Amino acid sequence: MIFDSVEMAPADPILGLTVAYNQDPNPDKINLGVGVYKDADGRTPVLQAVKDAERRMLAGETSKSYKPIEGDANYASAVQHLLLDRPNESDHEAIKSKRMVTAHTPGGTGGLRVVGDYLKANHPDMTLWLTTPTWANHPNIFQASGVPTKSFSYFDDQTFSLDFDAMIATFEKIPAGDAVLLHGCCHNPTGVDPTPQQWRDIGYLLHKRGVLVILDFAYQGFGDGLVEDAVALHTMLEPGREMLVVSSFSKNFSLYNERVGAVSAVASDAKTAQTVLSQLKRVIRSNYSNPPGHGSAIITGVLNDRGLRMNWEAELSVMRNRINSMRRMFVEKLTERGVDRDFSFIGQQRGMFAMTGFTKAQVDQLREEYAIYIVGSGRVNVAGMTDNNMDRLCDAIAAVLGG
Ligand SMILES: Cc1ncc(COP(=O)(O)O)c(C=O)c1O
Repeated sequence: MIFDSVEMAPADPILGLTVAYNQDPNPDKINLGVGVYKDADGRTPVLQAVKDAERRMLAGETSKSYKPIEGDANYASAVQHLLLDRPNESDHEAIKSKRMVTAHTPGGTGGLRVVGDYLKANHPDMTLWLTTPTWANHPNIFQASGVPTKSFSYFDDQTFSLDFDAMIATFEKIPAGDAVLLHGCCHNPTGVDPTPQQWRDIGYLLHKRGVLVILDFAYQGFGDGLVEDAVALHTMLEPGREMLVVSSFSKNFSLYNERVGAVSAVASDAKTAQTVLSQLKRVIRSNYSNPPGHGSAIITGVLNDRGLRMNWEAELSVMRNRINSMRRMFVEKLTERGVDRDFSFIGQQRGMFAMTGFTKAQVDQLREEYAIYIVGSGRVNVAGMTDNNMDRLCDAIAAVLGG
């Protein structure tokens, strides 16, 4: 039979961990694997601002007809302003000049795949450079598009900080016409981002060398704030510079299963931007044709309403502050237990993830003996920590690492 020759694909390592967690009967199990925000009670609730926007949509919706290939113009505009507005500055040069165009995509993953297919079709000689380490799905996505990838050093696993010098040394050798994929903020999996000055230097160098910056922006608002987290855009996006930006609203709107995101291209002028948009549309048309409506209607409903936006920003602050307070508590409790390693770097990292430096054997022991689920690389989802599970978690880590 035809299907008999098909080989079993390997399970996704991170989602596979969730399956194992769900099957574990231990009532005290702790999941620090998959990147989903959990509140203080370990739940991933629907945000109130989202519920309110949905209620209004339900009352006002008149049609479920197809959307344009690139999605609605009011969604594109809301996304651009969320990316680029600053207090007292809501008219960024890239928006005003119309050299920024945006297409609505199904999640950040869908946006990255549109970018991959666009690069393959329009820049066939381009190599895409990825941080080491990076989100495990990055190589999969670009491989599926047929875009060649290479890696550059990003994280120093001795000091748990940015390996800025090594990164710049690679950038000085990348050939003109290649692209670099950077994480807009809250780098996954390390939680380590460049400083504003480092972003400025990176932007200057890559522009000078003729290398395209692609910014994967999946955690805006999870680090230090919506505007603070957009520092990479504000420092790198000077007049005349090009960029591709992939947005995801899975985390900051807690809309994981609505699959809502975007691709924005910033070209040197408005005419070129329209040409790039035409190619993005071509990719989308042959892939999923046009985007799903529900998630984007929530985003525009919230962002374009003063009250809902204020409520959303307040809910986002609660998520961000909880993660940052869990980081501090984790470090304090490990120190209290006399763990023989300095974990203070975890308090300085940002976003949902931290690299702990745990070995594969320690990760296995935590899972097998203590029902604590961590990705094999030692990446932990800080948002899986709560006031209630922190003592048990730190006791187990102290036992495994030796106090
Ligand atoms: C760095 C990074 N990019 C993109 C995504 C994709 O997000 P989405 O769920 O919107 O596809 C994620 C999700 O974990 C991520 O961590």
